[in-house]
Amino acid sequence: MIETIGILGGGQLGRMLTLEAKRMGYRVVTLEPLPNSPCGQVADEQIVAAYDDARAIGELGARSDVVTYEFENIPLESIRLLQSQSRNVRPSGDVLRVTQDRILEKTFVRDAGCATAAFEAVTSADEMQNAVASLSFPAVMKTSRGGYDGKGQWVVRDAGDAEVALGEARGAPCIYERFVPFEREVSIICARGSDGKSIAFPITENVHDHGVLDTTIVPARLDSALAERVRANAALLGERLQIVGAYCVEFFILGDDVLVNEIAPRVHNSGHYSLDATQISQYEAHVRAICDLPLVQPRLLAPAVMMNILGTGEGDVLEGSAELLREPELKLHLYGKRHAALRRKMGHFTVLGSSVAEALAKASEGRSLLSWRPSTAVAGRPMMQIGASQPSPSA
Ligand SMILES: Nc1ncnc2c1ncn2[C@@H]1O[C@H](COP(=O)(O)OP(=O)(O)O)[C@@H](O)[C@H]1O
Ligand SMILES: [Mg+2]
Repeated sequence: MIETIGILGGGQLGRMLTLEAKRMGYRVVTLEPLPNSPCGQVADEQIVAAYDDARAIGELGARSDVVTYEFENIPLESIRLLQSQSRNVRPSGDVLRVTQDRILEKTFVRDAGCATAAFEAVTSADEMQNAVASLSFPAVMKTSRGGYDGKGQWVVRDAGDAEVALGEARGAPCIYERFVPFEREVSIICARGSDGKSIAFPITENVHDHGVLDTTIVPARLDSALAERVRANAALLGERLQIVGAYCVEFFILGDDVLVNEIAPRVHNSGHYSLDATQISQYEAHVRAICDLPLVQPRLLAPAVMMNILGTGEGDVLEGSAELLREPELKLHLYGKRHAALRRKMGHFTVLGSSVAEALAKASEGRSLLSWRPSTAVAGRPMMQIGASQPSPSA
């Protein structure tokens, strides 16, 4: 019987997962290097340790009946260690091995018969030359491992950019992808149980800014034939990877092309809306999947828009939230982070509307009310950097 869920990573995804798991009666232990992390604040326990600390990882396994993770950059060795100690890790290390490495992931997606942007692996200057010769410009170069929220990516418009990208990658294996002038970016959250049964949330439309998710619109404005292909691709990939848990597949839509961008074997920022706009959330779906509880089909209660609240680097005090809360169909979620660094994910809100257009209008108005200012105690003085010790990117 599962009583305690262990979560590797202590960011906001772990926090929302924990809040749902607690509501469902579970205990939660998180492992995260940043003390008092967003997840640690609401979990029963936080083990403060690095993700590769074998003793701490063993401790997490010993205190948990099932272990999961809230982001991909957990060292695979830590997952393997837990599995070698007969711990139940969901999704398994085999899933993480593929999805934490863009070269393996895109190759896997292509081999499964799903379309992707044309790409080449780049692990040397020679391979870069070949990639440029075959895919030309514009392109996006990404480090194969360790990137998130647009980090470790370069848009390559010409030979000069290619040289800069190669230099800045400092020998790290990369993927060189043709730039896709997409009409829309969409994603879908699915959840799959150990019995192979799966469910899918509504498809969402996502707008990014500087590689960071800015806005999610649900349902996506997508014609039904394309939507069907999105659902089919996502189900196929979950099946091929034998994922147990919630996962997200991101797509680019360009004309009749449905191109898989990436797979996240975890709850995802584009699924935050499900806390307020579907009758079960992605977090609950993940808990159900990893705890062998029944999976039920999510149902959208109303068109919804989710907007991230990102730091600007101008201060750590959020102004305007009282005005924001005047909107009756709006839910505000803040993550308990102290320092609002530039583009750091500090919170989000979701607004329901009678139509996507109405929800979008309310959300844009809501966002215009928010701003960051320095706290009076430290105004005019430089802020102390908190959490520099390589925490979860979401932490
Ligand atoms: N090949 C591409 N063509 C056009 N835009 C891209 C391409 N790859 C990534 N992007 C843009 O950058 C964003 C972040 O890239 P992604 O591959 O999803 O990395 P991550 O989310 O892990 O940082 C995407 O959501 C998309 O907006
Ligand atoms: Mg992405």
